[in-house]
Amino acid sequence: MTKPHDRRDFLMKLGIGAGVAGLAAQAGASLRSLVPNVSYDAPTTVKLGTPAEFPDGLKFLPDQRLFVFREGNTFHAISAACTHLGCTVRAEALPRPETRTVGGQTLRLTHRFLCPCHGSKYGGDGANVAGPAPRPLAWYELSISADDGQLVVDLAREVDRDFRLTLA
Ligand code: FES
Repeated sequence: MTKPHDRRDFLMKLGIGAGVAGLAAQAGASLRSLVPNVSYDAPTTVKLGTPAEFPDGLKFLPDQRLFVFREGNTFHAISAACTHLGCTVRAEALPRPETRTVGGQTLRLTHRFLCPCHGSKYGGDGANVAGPAPRPLAWYELSISADDGQLVVDLAREVDRDFRLTLA
């Protein structure tokens, strides 16, 4: 037969156990609430518009800080973010366009780039040629969106300077 004293002990232990389990569950829920379910990182691929919206030559896209170049059916994109401290470089048209071999491919250079912050200068292919900029301007991968045919840039995917997107 159970003594009343044993029963009280048992019920007290049961109560403490339930309390501890409840606290553990609540702590787990609180910690989980600190971890977001969604990523707030900006997407790295951005639709830029249909190829028809890009005239031959250069188009600057301020939101992406990107220069998109078109020569006929061939496109490439160069970052406008200075590699020194990240100011936005501006494009200056060359008095006479030049054709050069860049990364083993022919490239028609129509502009050069100047940084207004500390005077870095870049060639038309993005190569750093003067000032404190330590590296060339980045080139980014371009592609065509399968669903609506828009030009897409992937700002997380740098490519070599021989990259070209040629449309059929
Ligand atoms: S940020 Fe461009 S030269 Fe310093």
